[in-house]
Amino acid sequence: MSSTISQPVVAKLTRSAIFLVVTLKPEPQHRQTVRALCGDLAGLLRAVGFHDIEGLLSCVMGFGSEAWDRLFGEPRPKDLHPFREIQGQHHAVSTAGDILFHIRAKRMDLCFELATQIMSRLGDAVATTDEVHGFHYFDDRDLIGFVDGTENPVDQAAIDAAIIADEDPGFAGGSYVIVQKYLHDLRAWNAVPTEQQEKIVGRAKLSDIELDDAVKPAYAHNALTTIVEDGKQLEIVRDNMPFGDAGKGEFGTYFIGYARSPHRIEQMLHNMFVGRPPGNYDRLLDYSKAVTGTLFFVPSATFLENVVAS
Ligand code: HEM
Repeated sequence: MSSTISQPVVAKLTRSAIFLVVTLKPEPQHRQTVRALCGDLAGLLRAVGFHDIEGLLSCVMGFGSEAWDRLFGEPRPKDLHPFREIQGQHHAVSTAGDILFHIRAKRMDLCFELATQIMSRLGDAVATTDEVHGFHYFDDRDLIGFVDGTENPVDQAAIDAAIIADEDPGFAGGSYVIVQKYLHDLRAWNAVPTEQQEKIVGRAKLSDIELDDAVKPAYAHNALTTIVEDGKQLEIVRDNMPFGDAGKGEFGTYFIGYARSPHRIEQMLHNMFVGRPPGNYDRLLDYSKAVTGTLFFVPSATFLENVVAS
């Protein structure tokens, strides 16, 4: 294959992250501002990241379906479409978002500085629809108290799960990403006995060991998000992060899932929100509400670097 380089989709899990979603303003001149940033992003990252090279600063830039057409036109990634809402036992909303920046580092100051530099380049070309600052909570737990990320594929398996290869040759090295911001009703969740919480998640809370199939219910989160097609498990790469605002009583998980096709993430969401079979839905959703939902395409780093401002 050619020497296409991917964006750092499968970067190591870090202690801090900023999830920044913006919409592109309609005036034609803004297209140029965003295209200029595409070409300059790698340079910005090098400059900010060099303050602490061990800080592992990385940034992934993704584009929504309509934004792709406005910014780049044809050809377009074959599976790119707006996030499809799901009305099942619970509601997976579809919300606005043209560009995603997923910024990760060991230190929040590095993330913050890069986000600041990006926003100052974009100026009035965009409006921010959502900005979430995620933090590492104890031993990689989310705010519902369970370790999150254990079964994530790593190394080559992560690349196989997330990075497009021959199925869309013009966009090889790219990826798709779905983000959803979840808010938890922690008061209600904490009133659920630990044994029942473990059935809902499908793992033991303290030890993080997976429940035995004999006791794991079909509605367990890790049962509904395990999908097998043609005898093969279809995996995704997640990097969920807790976030919150104690003063406002806001406690959340920012879900982010990368995959070489949006289909597998959509299938997981269908199983969670509608149920498999319908009605056998994910009980986590009785305590966690999705307040955003957006799908983006992540082109290769090589594609981004070759975008010219015109
Ligand atoms: C409130 C939001 C969510 C929370 C708190 C949450 C939490 C967790 C936890 C604690 C685990 C078990 C540990 C692990 O393997 O990582 C897990 C597994 C998993 N989750 Fe989620 N999750 C959320 C949303 C989602 C969504 C929206 C998807 C996909 C669309 C998803 C896909 C998965 C997958 C694929 C696994 C691994 C299943 C396996 O192979 O065992 N999660 N999640």
